Amino acid sequence: MTTSVRITYSSADQDEASWIPGLQAALPGAEVSLWQPGVPQADYAVVWKPPQQLLDEQRGLKAIFNTGAGVDAMMKLRLPSGVPVIRLDDAGMSVQMAEYVCHAVIRHFREFDGYEADMASGKWSFRKPRSRIDYPVGVLGLGVLGERVAKAVAQFDFPVNGWSRSPKTVEGVQCFHGAAQLDAFLAASRIVVCLLPLTPETDSILNARTLAQLRPGGYVINVARGAHVVDADLLAAIDSGHLAGATLDVFRVEPLPKGHAFWSHPHITITPHTSARTLRSESIAQIARKIAALQGGQTVAGTVDAARGY
Ligand code: NAP
Ligand code: GLV
Repeated sequence: MTTSVRITYSSADQDEASWIPGLQAALPGAEVSLWQPGVPQADYAVVWKPPQQLLDEQRGLKAIFNTGAGVDAMMKLRLPSGVPVIRLDDAGMSVQMAEYVCHAVIRHFREFDGYEADMASGKWSFRKPRSRIDYPVGVLGLGVLGERVAKAVAQFDFPVNGWSRSPKTVEGVQCFHGAAQLDAFLAASRIVVCLLPLTPETDSILNARTLAQLRPGGYVINVARGAHVVDADLLAAIDSGHLAGATLDVFRVEPLPKGHAFWSHPHITITPHTSARTLRSESIAQIARKIAALQGGQTVAGTVDAARGY
């Protein structure tokens, strides 16, 4: 099957020394090589933030595999028409997202930051137990990652709301959908978790207007893309006391520039875009299965709808 398949690989920040032999091992008989200007035409491209030149030169591609879940960077490029873009579909990311978000929710809810500060000052002091019912968690985006996160948070008996573009039914989750139900979703949530793809419709979705809809003492967890949040609006909402704080894994500019207010804000926790990493062996296995399926004329999950942008 794979005897005559040619794969070209290019990544802005992954390690070709391990991806290329990994793809080769998963697709015996395929020819896998690093993309460089002028290389022969390939059947498939496996890429992360590829150069425009690759897409312009490779005119015979049957599909482009994105080695991440989010395709916002790819959508900014001029894509060859009619060639499907296929993103990672979980590949070990949803469990990472679930543990990251549950950690952030529980850390806030159980006031672990406060206990850490008490420990530093040698203070033995209990805080009053909080009621879960007062901490409904709203998950923006109920896709591959958001649904897993919503179900994981619900396991801790928090009330959970979810918001998607199309109507959904998820056990244990109160589901909202579409722009018309966004305000109702926000008003029903105190902690909001962003797991939306970045598209023109979702850019800057967490802004002064929407943050004001959250219940007082609200908390923001952004694990999707930095441009979902209007930084100044988030800071103002925290500084005014309307929001209690935020845990942010993603930023408009990455690495987060030195001196940005998020670095030193006492109520903001940051991590370096690490909530769900691309896992090499799971991702290679998924891509290899999908190439085999495409070669066999089948359709595959994770095919991006260019009109929707995700
Ligand atoms: P997905 O399966 O495509 O799910 C996207 C969800 O967002 C779907 O439920 C979709 O609604 C909803 N949505 C999209 N546009 C919407 C809109 N305009 N209004 C309401 N809902 C909308 O994506 P995923 O695999 O869960 O990944 C989500 C994002 O996480 C990625 O795009 C990526 O940016 C981010 N991510 C971050 C990291 C990290 O390390 N920080 C790692 C992986 C992924 P429908 O269900 O109705 O289509
Ligand atoms: C990471 O941010 C991804 O989109 O996979």
